Amino acid sequence: MSDAVDIALPSFDLTGKIALVTGATSGLGRRFSLVLAKAGASVAITGRRVDRLQSLKEEIEAIGGKALSVALDVTDPASIAHCVEAAGQGLGPIDILVNNAGMNVQALPHEVTPEGFDTMFDTNVRGAFFMAQAVGRQMIARGAGGRIINIASIGAFTQLPGLTIYCMTKAAVAMMTKSLAKEWARKGINVNALCPGFIETELNSEWFQSEGGQKQIKTFPRRRLGLESDLDGTLLLLASDHARFITGSLMTVDDAQSL
Ligand code: NAI
Repeated sequence: MSDAVDIALPSFDLTGKIALVTGATSGLGRRFSLVLAKAGASVAITGRRVDRLQSLKEEIEAIGGKALSVALDVTDPASIAHCVEAAGQGLGPIDILVNNAGMNVQALPHEVTPEGFDTMFDTNVRGAFFMAQAVGRQMIARGAGGRIINIASIGAFTQLPGLTIYCMTKAAVAMMTKSLAKEWARKGINVNALCPGFIETELNSEWFQSEGGQKQIKTFPRRRLGLESDLDGTLLLLASDHARFITGSLMTVDDAQSL
């Protein structure tokens, strides 16, 4: 008798799924939107710079994908409510939320102002929480579960020079991930965080092109920055059915930068 084992190799096909990506107008959010669309998902691309959303929509359509652009400012609860409603009406109920919008106000801890502090927390923590709440409510009401992928950072658990408040916000996102994962486990919603190391985007390109930034790169184990594409595999894994048993995880993707 044959002992042949039936092993279905993972497929990350997301055909029929609806995804929403926040902060899709540049950097990682733009890349996540393209990757999810390429994998077959219909993607609500959201952000403040609507002209950029239009060109991203065209790029997604050029690779055979489907996208809906919706204006979103995550610091405004009315904008969040409108965006989630419009995405649901335009594409259908959301299966996958990529909570990516984030920012940093450059200031050392002895210089940061209350306004700068609040702007970072309003975007990175309050914005991410109320996005998760708005989409989570829809997922709970529908009863079909879903995937929430919060974009945190290695700064959630590692001190990063010059980024004290930013790291504090990402630590909050990490705890939010664990807490929502447990609160919503029985609702079938998997909540995970992707914690990338340094990847050159609009967020940090000025710094990494400076002398100080070039020196910092030389301190990394592989003396290099990541590429936006280095997150493709983890994103697809967390978005897919293969993440069935993965929830409440902080997935570090950092080329050992945080060690
Ligand atoms: P980015 O600056 O290119 O992208 C951030 C996006 O968030 C932009 O599209 C921006 O317009 C949007 N955004 C900011 N405030 C917003 C608001 N109030 N409402 C809606 N959208 C808003 O930078 P990047 O690198 O692509 O950042 C994406 C996420 O990845 C952020 O959460 C960032 O903290 C995180 N991250 C980035 C790393 C990197 O090295 N690039 C490393 C670890 C985490």
